[in-house]
Amino acid sequence: MDSSNIKIFSPTGNTKRIADIVMSNLLGKNISNMENICIIGCPIYKGRVPQPYMQWLNDHPFSNKRVIIVETFGNAHIDDALLELHDWAIDHNNQVVGALAIASSHSYSTNEHPIAIHHPNSTELNELDSFIEAVAVKLSKDQNNSLTIPGHFPYKKSPVSTPIQPLRDAERCCDCGLCQEVCPQQNSDILGLDGIVIDQCLMCCACIQHCPTEAISYEKTEFNAKIEMLREVCKTDKTSLFIY
Ligand SMILES: Cc1cc2nc3c(=O)[nH]c(=O)nc-3n(C[C@H](O)[C@H](O)[C@H](O)COP(=O)(O)O)c2cc1C
Ligand code: SF4
Ligand code: SF4
Repeated sequence: MDSSNIKIFSPTGNTKRIADIVMSNLLGKNISNMENICIIGCPIYKGRVPQPYMQWLNDHPFSNKRVIIVETFGNAHIDDALLELHDWAIDHNNQVVGALAIASSHSYSTNEHPIAIHHPNSTELNELDSFIEAVAVKLSKDQNNSLTIPGHFPYKKSPVSTPIQPLRDAERCCDCGLCQEVCPQQNSDILGLDGIVIDQCLMCCACIQHCPTEAISYEKTEFNAKIEMLREVCKTDKTSLFIY
C-alpha cells in the first residue's frame, strides 16, 4: 500500500490510475516542497473506506503533510467515504488541499456483465484536469482553506452481506500465482481454494481481474443476483466530486 508520497489502496487498479495521473501532473508543474505532498485514496466500498485500508492508515499514521484525497467509485454511491478520509487526515494534523471521488468502472464488471465501464467519461476527465490545475495553484501559493465535504457523521453503517465464494477452475489455471500475489488479504490461500478464509475475502475482485486465463469467478447463482441489482443501480450517471 505504501510508497513515500502515494499511500493508496487499489485492488483492481482504478484508484491507482487516477492517483498516478494527479501525481505525475503535479510533478510537471515545478511546485516547491513536493516531498511534503501525500496522496491517500481507495475505492469506495459500500459507501465507506475499506476497513483494511482504514486499519493500515491507523497503523501507519503521518502528520504535517499537504494531503490530496483520491477515491474512485463504481457509479453507484459515494455516501460518507470521502468525508471519512478527509476526517482521518485532519484528525492527524494534516492539511487537505483537495479531495475527489471520480466514477470508474465497477470492480464487479466483467466482459459478460459490464458495469460502469464508460467511466471516467470525458466530462469527468475534464473535471479531473481542472481539479489538478486548481490544486497546483493552491500548492504553489501555499493557500490553505478548509474544505466542505458532503457526508454524515457518525458515518453510515455498511450493509452486512454474506460473502460470495471466489471459485477457481483448475483446468483453466496455469499456476502463475498472480491471484495470490495481488490478494490484499495475504492469508487467503486462493490457489487451494478450499483453504480460502471466506470471511476474510473482501470481494475486491483483484484475483478475478488479474487472472490471465479468466480462471476465477464468483459462485454464479448468488453473484448473478448481485450483478443484476448493481447494473440497475449503476446505469444512470452519478455526480463525481472534485473539492478544493
Ligand atoms: C466490496 C465492494 C464494494 C463496493 N461498493 C461500492 C459503493 O458503495 N459505491 C460505488 O459506487 N462503487 C462501489 N464499488 C466499486 C468500486 O468502488 C470501484 O469499482 C472502484 O473504482 C474500484 O477501485 P480499485 O480499482 O482501485 O480497486 C464496490 C466494489 C467492491 C469490490
Ligand atoms: S491468477 Fe489465474 S491462472 Fe494464475 S494461479 Fe491464479 S487462478 Fe491460476
Ligand atoms: S480472494 Fe477475495 S480478497 Fe483476495 S483478491 Fe480475491 S476477491 Fe480479493
